[in-house]
Amino acid sequence: MEFPFAESYKIKMVEPIKRTSIEERIKIIKEAKYNLFNIRSKHVFIDLLTDSGTGAMSHNQWSEMMLGDESYAGASSYYKMKNAIKTILGFEHFLPTHQGRAAENVLFSVLIKEGDLVPGNSHFDTTKGHIEIRKATAVDCTIDDANDTTKYHPFKGNVDINKLKKVFENNPVEKIPFIIVTITNNTSGGQPVSMQNIKEVKQIADKYKVKLVIDSARFAENAYFIKTREKAYENKSIKEIVKEIFSYADAMTMSSKKDAIVNMGGFIAMKDEKLFKEASVFNILFEGFITYGGMSGRDMNALAQGLDEATEFDYLETRIKQVEYLGNLLLEYGVPILEPIGGHAIFVDALKFLPNVSREEFPAQTLAIELFIEGGVRGVEIGAIMADRDPISRENRFPELELVRLAIPRRTYTNNHMQYVAATIKNVYDRRNDIKKGVKIVNEAPVLRHFTVELEKL
Ligand code: F0G
Repeated sequence: MEFPFAESYKIKMVEPIKRTSIEERIKIIKEAKYNLFNIRSKHVFIDLLTDSGTGAMSHNQWSEMMLGDESYAGASSYYKMKNAIKTILGFEHFLPTHQGRAAENVLFSVLIKEGDLVPGNSHFDTTKGHIEIRKATAVDCTIDDANDTTKYHPFKGNVDINKLKKVFENNPVEKIPFIIVTITNNTSGGQPVSMQNIKEVKQIADKYKVKLVIDSARFAENAYFIKTREKAYENKSIKEIVKEIFSYADAMTMSSKKDAIVNMGGFIAMKDEKLFKEASVFNILFEGFITYGGMSGRDMNALAQGLDEATEFDYLETRIKQVEYLGNLLLEYGVPILEPIGGHAIFVDALKFLPNVSREEFPAQTLAIELFIEGGVRGVEIGAIMADRDPISRENRFPELELVRLAIPRRTYTNNHMQYVAATIKNVYDRRNDIKKGVKIVNEAPVLRHFTVELEKL
């Protein structure tokens, strides 16, 4: 008999979770102004809001916590992290930050000026926010296939090389400080970028003498897809692939809450000492002295250990197969999801799921609300609300895709939980034709409005 797939870990500590009733949830979501960020976690049964900072640390990470050195300057924890970044990722210099967006803030303070263009593949919302707040523009050069939710492409996160070339041909190169490649591409569905594509982007960066920055939140998951989908890499280890990816980058920003499996933390790593020195000034100003930069020593220790664990094949296989397990259940039920299934999350296609709700009434948010009411499952809208208004015209932006993301925390839930989530979605799918009205915005912030938006049910 063939062995079923089994997790590459066992569980040593558990955290109880509790189900509420439908009646309670209807009240809870109303009180939360129909914004899932406003719901208390104790009212959520299965929390798929994000895979960021929600993973379970290993016993080795927890023991590293006890060895943390909390010295202000020169802590051994800093050197532990420095060593992991050098040996696993290949960067000589690094600056710790409290999380990924802080890394963006510090690095972009050095690199971006007003009027600049930053081409890349579907910039993440904080990345775009940090570009736009500096009165610069994020130019999305993702391949068109990324907008087709059912078309199979092994590397749907790829940069369209022709689109990227056009940005350089049509604009003065002084206006383009760097290219940013996000691996995996979160915004377009946790889709990976191929090594081939990274190399081609690097060639363009070299041709125009601009930097290549990698937004690396899920770099290890990206490496898994390179190993399993890109022929030339099938016999390479994840660690070899990771080293090669970053060999093409001048710098990286990292949200360690994802592929370093810690609850809080981030960093910038770079090859150039001059850039390191310039960024250090902003790091001290915004984050903290360069040997802690917003992190405690114990967290730096756990992060260093996490980088090592996350770049092991067995861990990644367990992780990505669980996401696939949920995705395959939904496909069995006929639920429209983004395919191929990405690395960290399932993305439900809300335009197909709720065809009776108009785009002006935010179908993805409407669906996310329904999933909470149905089963106490919390996902997140990745659609028009998250896309914010155009910074100049202030009109709502309607991105090609309107999705609900169900992000799976690392090493946290079991496959029974995935079955429960699938049943929740199926139940809403069965009554989808009765859902005809969405929501309207009653209060919103000028940028990153989805975190605090207040809504009313129509
Ligand atoms: N880049 C990517 C690709 C991300 O997915 C995130 C965060 C960041 C940068 C910012 O990192 O949260 O540590 O400041 N993504 C989280 C998510 C919030 O839910 O996908 P951060």
